[in-house]
Amino acid sequence: MNMSKYLDSLLTRAAKNLKTIVLPEGEDERILDAAHYVAERKAAKLIIFGDPEKIKAHYASKGWNMDGIEILVPEKSPKLNEYANLLYELRKAKGMTLEEAQQLAVNYTFHGTLMMKAGEADGMVSGANHSTADTVRPALQIIKSAHKDRSVSSAAIMVIKDVPYIFSDPAIIINPTEQEMADMALASAETAMQFGLEPKVAMLSYSTKGSGHGGMVDKVKAATELAQKMLETSPLKGKVAIDGELQADAALDEVVAKKKAPGSEVAGHANVLIFPCLEVGNISYKLLQRFYGAEAYGPIMQGLNAPINDLSRGALVEDIVGMIAITAIQAVK
Ligand SMILES: CC(C)(COP(=O)(O)OP(=O)(O)OC[C@H]1O[C@@H](n2cnc3c(N)ncnc32)[C@H](O)[C@@H]1OP(=O)(O)O)[C@@H](O)C(=O)NCCC(=O)NCCS
Repeated sequence: MNMSKYLDSLLTRAAKNLKTIVLPEGEDERILDAAHYVAERKAAKLIIFGDPEKIKAHYASKGWNMDGIEILVPEKSPKLNEYANLLYELRKAKGMTLEEAQQLAVNYTFHGTLMMKAGEADGMVSGANHSTADTVRPALQIIKSAHKDRSVSSAAIMVIKDVPYIFSDPAIIINPTEQEMADMALASAETAMQFGLEPKVAMLSYSTKGSGHGGMVDKVKAATELAQKMLETSPLKGKVAIDGELQADAALDEVVAKKKAPGSEVAGHANVLIFPCLEVGNISYKLLQRFYGAEAYGPIMQGLNAPINDLSRGALVEDIVGMIAITAIQAVK
């Protein structure tokens, strides 16, 4: 496994507050290997769903012990009825029947999400073999947004020349409204702080301070104003700077910033980049990864009441180790 400096620092950080993370996809050997590396560093306690014989045989074949790793078979859980009732109570107003809740409680993603809701786990990492929507929807329905009136979004932690940046939103909100972009800015600032950054949030556009025109520029300008207004009454006030609309060069390059956005606290120093839509956010982080070899962690979800994160189906063992550590760090209140 490739252990980068940043990944090593995430594991060290996670180990400071031992959290319990559910891994529902125990049939996948990458998950089992990742769980071993996390448990070996005592960075989290892990609950893996799946066939105990197969999982034990996998670890035995590698000569690894299972300290810090518990196996659970959702179909045989003594709490199945309790979880089905919990789900029914949470979703009956949306038309779910008790029978549907009983069927869903055995579904591994729902089961893990319900364990979190019941307070038996602190976080979950899934999606190595499921679509983003399959992983994210139960989280949105059961765990829900931490702020009732704010949307949940995602962020990627990009590590470029050993320096971390937060990119949002590469995975959840396809075409955010002004309000959703503003929510994203505040949630991303919180994410940045969780990962040790002093957030300087750039609301990105193809225009800097009125240099370009168009509907998308207007959206980013309005989102910036909303985010700045929300910041005024938020506990983040004084700890976070938000500015826009800024082009990427003005956001990141001090020389360009001096010409295009003089006096901006963010321009030239941005470490949190908010994109105007999912297409740009998703394409940008993948281009950096492929052309430049930037380390990318995530997309991770932000703004949820408790952390659930979705893996890419092509995730390597080190990506999964990183996601488990990040989830454990997000779980610290
Ligand atoms: C995330 C996603 C799956 C949500 O799916 P959806 O079809 O909007 O989900 P639903 O409309 O069924 O909503 C389910 C619940 O989540 C809530 N919800 C949906 N999006 C939300 C958001 N961004 N923030 C907070 N709540 C949200 C809904 O309000 C609803 O709540 P309720 O049932 O209690 O009323 C969808 O936005 C999506 O497909 N995004 C793109 C994912 C993608 O393809 N990414 C590619 C890169 S990995």
